[in-house]
Amino acid sequence: MLTLVKNIKELVQVETGRQRLRVEGSEMAQMETVKDAYLLVEDGKIKAFGPMSHCPENADREVDATGRLVLPTFCDSHTHLVYANSREHEFVDKIRGLSYEEIAKRGGGILNSAKATAAASEQELYDMACLRLEEAMRLGTGAIEIKSGYGLSTESELKLLRVIRRLKENSPLTIKSNFLGAHGIPMEYRGHQEDYVDLVINEMIPRVADEGLADFIDVFCDKGFFTVDDTARILEAGIKHGMRPKIHANEMAVSGGVQVGVKYGAISVDHLEQMGDAEIKCLKGSDTMPTILPGCAFFLGLPLSPARRMIEAGLPVAMASDYNPGTSPSCNMQLILSMACIRYRLTPEEAVNATTLNTAYAMGVSDRVGTIAVGKQANFYITKPIPSYEYMPYAYGENKVERVFLNGKEV
Ligand code: NIG
Ligand code: FE
Repeated sequence: MLTLVKNIKELVQVETGRQRLRVEGSEMAQMETVKDAYLLVEDGKIKAFGPMSHCPENADREVDATGRLVLPTFCDSHTHLVYANSREHEFVDKIRGLSYEEIAKRGGGILNSAKATAAASEQELYDMACLRLEEAMRLGTGAIEIKSGYGLSTESELKLLRVIRRLKENSPLTIKSNFLGAHGIPMEYRGHQEDYVDLVINEMIPRVADEGLADFIDVFCDKGFFTVDDTARILEAGIKHGMRPKIHANEMAVSGGVQVGVKYGAISVDHLEQMGDAEIKCLKGSDTMPTILPGCAFFLGLPLSPARRMIEAGLPVAMASDYNPGTSPSCNMQLILSMACIRYRLTPEEAVNATTLNTAYAMGVSDRVGTIAVGKQANFYITKPIPSYEYMPYAYGENKVERVFLNGKEV
């Protein structure tokens, strides 16, 4: 089956030479495009692309993209999209002056979500997650990482991970699962959280591994949550069971999370609102992708992660949605692209790399998605008629995506 997309005003984020797994430092500003282009898809993969002057004549299906751009779908490498309830009442408490930490201390926050999630059935959670995934896809996301973490008991965590497994089986998106049993400390473990860490290590991780439910292991390593020692113990246990670390670090404080993540070969360390020179130095030369979550900093009014300083130090930077009910209730990666430019001063080219190729790396799939390259999955979107790719981040809050194709099929 050959599908031909013709008359593309500009085909964006193509790779013509060597395919890269990620881009860092000054490479982040490099982004190739082809103007007046075609894109040829065969059996779900990209077969060829180039200028219309070289456009092949025959295909089983033709799609006309006159006046429109084509970009690779976004990769969203950090989400918590399986949960039961929204938390707009805490949102109002925050407007009235309570901090995220104060709400968490009162049993709100993650524990509030855990209570509602425990009461929901697997089917109910699956149905809600499907709707959210559909919304993300309509907005241009083609690959997504999904964490557990609103269970906080063995059975509830397994329930969430089984929901993610069903999403993997039934959704056209590329999905990776992440076990985040160490997301919060349940009330009954307050004052002796090491017992909860033992439960994660001795009971949850082996059960999760037995059912093959997680690609990654995550810990919320931060002030008021899990310590560096807790994190090290949990990551070691996860690694022994075949899960690669991918962690939350340095959201509330300079927590040591970056260092422990790099030490255990984390594929990414995420949040990074609190970054000193030591953290930047530690990431240099590592395989770990620093991942910024602009939606969370926006929603909570947190300090901005020093993205420019990181890029100027030669680091790669990825940006993901952190879609969750407490700190970033939006799966809109178009908005993340805009925030990358508006709030973090990335150029549009850097922002596209941060939300496609580098996030694909941060979830271990950049060999198959994240750019328009021959042999990669045909995951792309066609925009509405827009003037240029710079318009994508510029026109924030507007949906610029018209049609989405995953594995060559329109969804
Ligand atoms: O990534 N920081 C930890 N976890 C989530 C928030 C979870 C919640 O408040 O429900 C985050 O921001
Ligand atoms: Fe998160």
